[in-house]
Amino acid sequence: MKILILGVNGFIGNKLVKKIMQSTGWEVYGIDLSCSKLSHSIDNPRFHFIEGDITIHKEWVDYHVKKCDVIIPLVAIATPAHYIKEPLQVFELGFEENLRIVRLCVKYGKRILFPSTSEVYGMNSDPEFSEDTSNFVFGPVRKQRWIYACAKQLLDRVIWAYGTEGKLDFTIFRPFNWIGPKLDDIDAAKEGSSRVVTQFIINIVMNEPIRLVDGGMQKRCFTYIEDGIDCLMKIIENKKGLCRGEIFNIGNPHNECSMRDLAEILLALYRNHSGSEAYSVSASEIIEVSSDEYYGEGYQDISTRKPSIKKAQKLLGWVPLVGLESALEKTLDFFIEESRTKGLLCA
Ligand code: UGA
Repeated sequence: MKILILGVNGFIGNKLVKKIMQSTGWEVYGIDLSCSKLSHSIDNPRFHFIEGDITIHKEWVDYHVKKCDVIIPLVAIATPAHYIKEPLQVFELGFEENLRIVRLCVKYGKRILFPSTSEVYGMNSDPEFSEDTSNFVFGPVRKQRWIYACAKQLLDRVIWAYGTEGKLDFTIFRPFNWIGPKLDDIDAAKEGSSRVVTQFIINIVMNEPIRLVDGGMQKRCFTYIEDGIDCLMKIIENKKGLCRGEIFNIGNPHNECSMRDLAEILLALYRNHSGSEAYSVSASEIIEVSSDEYYGEGYQDISTRKPSIKKAQKLLGWVPLVGLESALEKTLDFFIEESRTKGLLCA
């Protein structure tokens, strides 16, 4: 099988290639702006990488959609701070470029695995979100946070429509707060614009305050990247064609945690970090900030976001295995090492 991954150097892309190289005989064609996270696979003869930009290297993309069997377009800006600061960039890259890819898959009759997002459920208050019955609840237009979710929602609907007209073989998947090594760029976290787990870790490592937005009672279910990748592998395998035309939540409902608890757990893990004499004490304190102050007026939050994973369990036989503390510890270990290399670690 030949797989095309656009945005192959990203958090999900690099881990997926690694797994494919380790456990299958499949070939992967990949494009990204850099190969900084791909050292594990770059020399493998079954991995074909080019450094490039999908908005510029359109002929390469067209040719490889035609050549490959399964297309996985992972290019998008996925950090809430950017939804408010750069909403048009989020739309142009996340929506317009991906629409082009969807249409190429239709044109060449290729199977697409499309990454939707847990964000599409928005401020829905269901105790668990179901792929097939939960409503999508977004705020007003002036709340620019929703541009990412809206763009993903519309693409989900376009893909669905092509599917129901018999023009596209697709599976949509919705990651729920996947975490792990290489989650976000450490420089983005230094500027204060990365996703929460990386943000808190870098704050702790740099002895800066951990800033809890609006009190920190909002909850997320954190999913370890390797669990997510295992589910994706089953979707790519697509045994008995069961994934065709389906949408899957991929998350860990047992790893629910408030942002305040997350901050406490990370601080405790950091203080107990094995062999960490030199940095066993972090002076980070937990402070509260308003969302207006932290993100700007275009922000609106989600208070709970828990996936129902019954479908993935039933059709794919998949369940997540990594618990919250273990997932956070593995992520923390990686960023401590990365911070040490970059000279950020405060003694
Ligand atoms: C994320 C992103 O939109 C996407 O990566 C993705 O689609 C989706 O969720 C997902 O991974 O499932 P969100 O969970 O809101 O959205 O993003 P985070 O930046 O990780 O924020 C989580 C919570 O922490 C929010 O309530 C935020 O206000 C809070 N936060 C964030 C803080 O309290 N302090 C910080 O320093 C940063």
